[in-house]
Amino acid sequence: MRMNVNYLGLELKNPLVVSASPMSMHTDRCRALEDHGVSAIVMHSLFEEQINAELHEVDHMLFHGKEAFSEALDFFPESRFENYETENYIQRVHALKAALGIPVIASLNGVSSGGWVQYAKLLEEAGADALELNLYFPADRAWNTPDTIEKHYLDTIASVKKNTSLPFAVKLAPAFTSLPHFLHEAATAGAAAAVLFNRFYHSEIDLEALEWTRTLYRSGRADFSAALRAVAMGYGQSDLQYCIGGGVTEGTDIVKGVMAGATAVAAATVFHDRGAAYAGVMLEEAQQWLEEHEYESFDQMRGSISYNKAPNPSALERANYVELLSQSDSLWY
Ligand SMILES: Cc1cc2nc3c(=O)[nH]c(=O)nc-3n(C[C@H](O)[C@H](O)[C@H](O)COP(=O)(O)O)c2cc1C
Repeated sequence: MRMNVNYLGLELKNPLVVSASPMSMHTDRCRALEDHGVSAIVMHSLFEEQINAELHEVDHMLFHGKEAFSEALDFFPESRFENYETENYIQRVHALKAALGIPVIASLNGVSSGGWVQYAKLLEEAGADALELNLYFPADRAWNTPDTIEKHYLDTIASVKKNTSLPFAVKLAPAFTSLPHFLHEAATAGAAAAVLFNRFYHSEIDLEALEWTRTLYRSGRADFSAALRAVAMGYGQSDLQYCIGGGVTEGTDIVKGVMAGATAVAAATVFHDRGAAYAGVMLEEAQQWLEEHEYESFDQMRGSISYNKAPNPSALERANYVELLSQSDSLWY
């Protein structure tokens, strides 16, 4: 039985990767995770240091049209990238590459194009094995049309593809009117994989201070279920590979993720809560499942329960919804 998979052009010994998180700031924890079997580390994201400047760039592009896009690529002078944050991040890439035998995937968090192309180049030079690109523009104004924002994302993907040779994944939020369409376009623009889904902070109102507070609630089964469904829908509609993440806690989640169509399965919180050794427990559980069900590899299983396999996916989706709601009384009692 073979556990290995090829994700983002990298030979991984199994599908279980560490999701972008502060774990990558600690070389010893990453080494322990490697010792217990994880197949790659996704680093915490390098965030744009002056996010306001970046948003101005995007605003500029959104309001001044297409021509402004190429200008935007030259928006930041080269020296802006030689900052403390970036230097620190590059040192982290070097440290992890020196300490680990498994691939290190660097992560960029931003919305602009020019800036991220420059960062992507820097991380490629630093020795990252692949990239994860977080695409997120906070669409909070009525005039931010879905088309404009999606076009901006796709232009960003195309620019990174054009200017770097590293394979990269895009980490996406669940909020798309037609996610399968966007996934297809992302593949056409040059993304090699999609990480479903990204997770953002949660807002609450502090009634004492009368202000917004931000927190990060733990992900749970609902998050995993949403990602599973999205991967199952997207699988087979383009060349895009999938990495599923959010609420992954069991070895059987690896099996479910691959059955839906994922090549990699990412987890962060469970390693923080249960320690590095738990990666070994998950992998053993997954391997046992495969053996008991006589699968020879994850490749053989991939997408076996994707929507692609259903004769009429839209009818199936609608039938499931109607059936669930018509029985919803029984969910309460
Ligand atoms: C403390 C913390 C920090 C995170 N930092 C990042 C980050 O820098 N970049 C990123 O793309 N995702 C980040 N994430 C999101 C995770 O990569 C992952 O998508 C999310 O936590 C869901 O997976 P999980 O349920 O296994 O934790 C972070 C999550 C946590 C809990």
